[in-house]
Amino acid sequence: MNDKKHFSIEEVEKFEKYTKINLINSISGFKSANLLATKNKKNTTNLAIFNSVCHLGSAPAMIHFTLRPHTVARHTYENILESGYFTINAITTKIIEKAHQTSAKYNNETSEFDATKLSAIYQDGFFAPYVKESPVQLGCKYLNTYKIEENGCLIVIAAIEHIYVTENMLSKDGFVDLEKGNIASIVGLDGYYKPKKLTRFPYARP
Ligand SMILES: Cc1cc2nc3c(=O)[nH]c(=O)nc-3n(C[C@H](O)[C@H](O)[C@H](O)COP(=O)(O)O)c2cc1C
Repeated sequence: MNDKKHFSIEEVEKFEKYTKINLINSISGFKSANLLATKNKKNTTNLAIFNSVCHLGSAPAMIHFTLRPHTVARHTYENILESGYFTINAITTKIIEKAHQTSAKYNNETSEFDATKLSAIYQDGFFAPYVKESPVQLGCKYLNTYKIEENGCLIVIAAIEHIYVTENMLSKDGFVDLEKGNIASIVGLDGYYKPKKLTRFPYARP
């Protein structure tokens, strides 16, 4: 006996808009919680929350994130194209409310750093600002954009040029224990979690 509720995609498509968004965005699992920080040529900074940052190979060290269709203003992306640089800053449980607020549609003259009172800092001459409150910060260089023809989303890929990690999170073998830095995780577009490590396993062999 299957105790699970079943939906055919035809049923899901008839759901109210936000029910559909919540269902589809949450079922694929816990996502990373990051703030992308940029600066335009007029020196206005920008900060926005993204739950789609993922590594894309370690040699060379690359990451990607998914951008919604560029049919409206997308300040993070426009600043990245203009300057070539951005930073990725892990969201701690302490700053989830401010981080969430960065998803509001502020105009181009308003910096979400000012609106949320998160602090912009500059490190080692990098063009884009970092979020001071974040214990894991990556300085990234834009590489390319791939368009998903089926829905207009963009996959943005970038090279990691700088890594800053609070020392007590870093293991001798390079593993970064995000739990020690109280890094949050995201479900859907508004659910914030505090993940707990169970274990680490040795490299699996047949
Ligand atoms: C939890 C959460 C995760 C989000 N993840 C993404 C994402 O991965 N890609 C994206 O394009 N927008 C994402 N957004 C929406 C952006 O944060 C939002 O569009 C923001 O206004 C973009 O700001 P910008 O125009 O300054 O770049 C997310 C919003 C929330 C609340």
